[in-house]
Amino acid sequence: MNDSGGNYGQGLFQGGEICISVHGLWKIFGPEPEKILNMDMSNSTKQAILEETGCVMAIRDVSFEVNSGELFVIMGLSGSGKSTLIRCILRLIEPTAGKIIINGEDICAYDKSQLMNLRRNTTGMIFQYFGLFPHHTVLDNVAYGLKVKGVDKEERYARAREIIAKVGLREWESYFPSALSGGMQQRVGIARALANDPDVLLMDEPFSGLDPLIRRQMQDELIAIQSEVQKTILFVTHDLDEALKLGSHIAIMRDGEIIQVGTPEEVITAPSDDYVRSFVQDASPAKVVTARSIMEQPRVLLYEWQGPKTALALMKSNSSDETFVVTRTGKLQGMVTIENLIKLIKNKSNFLHEALEPDLPVATVDMVLEDLFPLAMATRYPIAVVDEKGKFMGYVHTGAILGSMIQEKEEDESQRDEETSGQKREEGEIENIEEENSLDA
Ligand SMILES: Nc1ncnc2c1ncn2[C@@H]1O[C@H](COP(=O)(O)OP(=O)(O)O)[C@@H](O)[C@H]1O
Ligand SMILES: [Mg+2]
Repeated sequence: MNDSGGNYGQGLFQGGEICISVHGLWKIFGPEPEKILNMDMSNSTKQAILEETGCVMAIRDVSFEVNSGELFVIMGLSGSGKSTLIRCILRLIEPTAGKIIINGEDICAYDKSQLMNLRRNTTGMIFQYFGLFPHHTVLDNVAYGLKVKGVDKEERYARAREIIAKVGLREWESYFPSALSGGMQQRVGIARALANDPDVLLMDEPFSGLDPLIRRQMQDELIAIQSEVQKTILFVTHDLDEALKLGSHIAIMRDGEIIQVGTPEEVITAPSDDYVRSFVQDASPAKVVTARSIMEQPRVLLYEWQGPKTALALMKSNSSDETFVVTRTGKLQGMVTIENLIKLIKNKSNFLHEALEPDLPVATVDMVLEDLFPLAMATRYPIAVVDEKGKFMGYVHTGAILGSMIQEKEEDESQRDEETSGQKREEGEIENIEEENSLDA
């Protein structure tokens, strides 16, 4: 087992319950897979194993955990084992060895009817090529899973209509899939998976077949839907930008192994090896580094009820030229400078809020460098950072923002001549929805 693959789990998955846990998973395609498993293959490459044994080592001792409600991304080049992995999780492909726990249950021990139940009720799957029934309307496609479950017509249509509206296709209910664009068809795919109200959504390159613009829209919509429905999502992609944008954690696969698991920022800033580094070198920190990760704490923080003289004394003793003012509950009120405080005292005012700087730049903790940049350009003050409730969390020096953007530009230029390794395009694979769906029509 690759050392770096074992780093998951330490400090990464604190808080929240674990929804999916995969441990020591192997999948070997070919004759006598168990025999391969018992041979010492720890130092052989996938290619060497194939040549020696005729077997494909598609998944190799993979372990990871997915928290309830998170969007966990599996990323890797074509052929790295992503689809095999995600299918093993529902046993659409039987693993050769390993353990898969979903919501606390060992699904490798499930019999056929338990498995069917898992696929119908607990999980939903979304594929790259949508897998819609061409002779069913949008409404019937979305209601399909409920029909299989025996939900009566009125109820399943009501539920399907509700979900269709959620994905923005209300006017398209009675159309056939062929009348819809790719992006719209994939919305139907998402609606169909959501109609069953599963705990877990498994998405295998769902946006890879879409135009870049539509693709970005769909990513935004997925984020919006996810924040509403709070499903656990396992999302496969070969696109780094997509992984960075969507994932709360990203697992990077190469030749059947997971070689790194981390948050987008960890993957970008501390790639576990040269392979990951070569993957992420084109990624822009501007898109991932957040205000939270670069903010600092002021040496002194003022409360709104404090008088100007106290404020001045506190700032002087901490050698601060400016600082922030908060309410009793920590909400940001604004910023004061020493200069304005002195003016206030000269004017014999006792109210700190009269010295607050107008037009203070404020950022939220999740804003990335790219969004902070315009704020930094427009001000000579530090940028206050607040959480979603307006609570003061820290501040960012404009210099830090401008500096990191410039550094990035220089790196860009020095890399310009280097060859960029284009990712292999996923070859068109026809997706088959699990067998049970073919019962229909
Ligand atoms: N049914 C199969 N029989 C033999 N080899 C397979 C089969 N399915 C996938 N593979 C091989 O397993 C590896 C992983 O494939 P896959 O999971 O489809 O990768 P990805 O989804 O990352 O592109 C590849 O080398 C592929 O050729
Ligand atoms: Mg695949």
